[in-house]
Amino acid sequence: MCGIIACVGADDAVDTVLTGLNNLEYRGYDSAGIAVQNGRGLAIRKRAGEISDLSGSFVESLPQATVGIGHTRWSTHGPPTDDNAHPHTSRSGDVAVVHNGVIANYAALREELEGLGYEFTSETDTEVIPHLVDRYLEDGLDGDAAFRRTVERLEGSYAIAMLIEGENTIRAARQGSPLVVGLHDDAYYLASDVPAFLEFTDRVIYLEDGDVVAVDPTSLSITDLDGEPVERDVDTVDWSPEETGKGGYDHYMLKEIESQPEALSNTIRGRIDPDEPAITLEEFPPGSFEGITDVHFVACGTSYHAALYGARLLDEAGLRVRTSRASEYTGSVPDPEHTLVVAVTQSGETADTLGALRAAKATDARTLALTNVVGSTAAREADDALYIRAGPEIGVAATKTFSSQVVTLVLLAERVRQDVEPATERDDLGALLRALSQLPDQLEEVIRTSRAEALSRAYEGRESYFFIGHRLLHPVALEGALKFKEITYEHAEGFASGELKHGPLALVTPGTPVFAMFDGVHDEKTRTNATEARARGAEIVAITASEQRVEECADEVLVIPDTHPDLSGLLSNAQLQLVSYYTARLLDRPIDKPRNLAKSVTVE
Ligand code: F6R
Repeated sequence: MCGIIACVGADDAVDTVLTGLNNLEYRGYDSAGIAVQNGRGLAIRKRAGEISDLSGSFVESLPQATVGIGHTRWSTHGPPTDDNAHPHTSRSGDVAVVHNGVIANYAALREELEGLGYEFTSETDTEVIPHLVDRYLEDGLDGDAAFRRTVERLEGSYAIAMLIEGENTIRAARQGSPLVVGLHDDAYYLASDVPAFLEFTDRVIYLEDGDVVAVDPTSLSITDLDGEPVERDVDTVDWSPEETGKGGYDHYMLKEIESQPEALSNTIRGRIDPDEPAITLEEFPPGSFEGITDVHFVACGTSYHAALYGARLLDEAGLRVRTSRASEYTGSVPDPEHTLVVAVTQSGETADTLGALRAAKATDARTLALTNVVGSTAAREADDALYIRAGPEIGVAATKTFSSQVVTLVLLAERVRQDVEPATERDDLGALLRALSQLPDQLEEVIRTSRAEALSRAYEGRESYFFIGHRLLHPVALEGALKFKEITYEHAEGFASGELKHGPLALVTPGTPVFAMFDGVHDEKTRTNATEARARGAEIVAITASEQRVEECADEVLVIPDTHPDLSGLLSNAQLQLVSYYTARLLDRPIDKPRNLAKSVTVE
């Protein structure tokens, strides 16, 4: 789950690599390092801590260079220490490597190398790579051959970039972990993700598994492991550098919460016609899902909550639906010919989700990636991709992408139910689409008028925080609790409203805040369970479009605009996002980079 960046031909490699690392910090942030080549040798600085620690005198002494590699780490093998930080080097110090992923056979390789006299200075799996390269260089292979021979020996997942002393070439390889090339007139970049180099170029090549790259200031070669050239398309990304900056906000999370109206406008643009009423999913014209009887969703974390939302809609439409946490997916597909497996993943790189997607593919079921990232592994490996168009999300806590996932799933659910046998259509499709078209403005209103900050202050320091909702508000309750615990570090749980009395109520003590969501139609279970919790001393914060409806059971109200019941969860969720954000802020938490977490979880 780390981030790697490399550049050749840049005016100032140190500055370019540091910029890239700052842009990639969301991928991991417990240690960082940089290596540059200036024609007279490799210079390396690395240490445990944040990327901001790679500044001032620590890097000032690095030489002027045009070639460099950098790494931001999120530990998987060995704790975050200076020794475990990347780049890792060979015993001669002539080879420097940064790596994202996990080398599954590192123990065997390490034993072999120790047998040859190599001494290891870190606890990482990565360190086997520079030692292997060193070994093959000592055997007389040139840089290309030594790198290729090393890559052949690796099992597991990796994106690697390597520098050899005295050479202005960066060699890189990809297998199971993302790696993108950026092309500029007189420079090349390599990174785990496009935002790393977006301020330098928007022309990219998404590498495929098995690709091996050698790039110097004047040429780029992409081959397979046998050295045979492979053709890869050059794409132009339509994300702007401003979208990946903080834009004057203290935190990406608040910027991303507040950009939800714009993100949602993009998600629905050209896809809905309330007057007809009709849905146009450009990639999926009517009839695209003919023959489907079963839909399986696989996803993790916030994306799993979005999947639950979509699954509920399909379940109510009469389809056979299963939703699995990707890490628990069994891969059992009783009727693959008629099954659609939807992997919901913002990044398109989550290892657990990719594992489930591959298990589904192995059954010959039809697969679809619902993702934010064009060119991501999920998008490329699934039979089809449906994009949520939320724009880049940098804060570790997913916010705007949840909203865009849910809305995309609402549209997908409608297309699927219209295509299957017997085909059905909502009788309120026009009303739903009208409500959808108003949603961006309504979200704007929630953000502008929310009392979340005041309520966060009022409830600071409580022992636990509960979130409840029924039907489509159940996944929103789960999401509200996940967001709260993730960025405040306080205990929070989300439940289906009716479940509260089946155990969790024992945890309710006087003063426990219970955030209860109401959609105006399916409210009875939430009302009775909130009332019961209140009788045990809980303080109920109702999230509703109508204060009168909750008079009897609420202590506080967060008001949302009136909307279709199938969409009210999106407005409620924005209120909950703000409650989490302001509570975390009061507690002085590192909101964009919660401890132990990373944005893209590329290990299982
Ligand atoms: C929580 C969060 C995570 C991700 C999860 C899946 O705020 O962001 O729970 O939702 O790691 O990531 P993607 O959607 O990239 O597969």
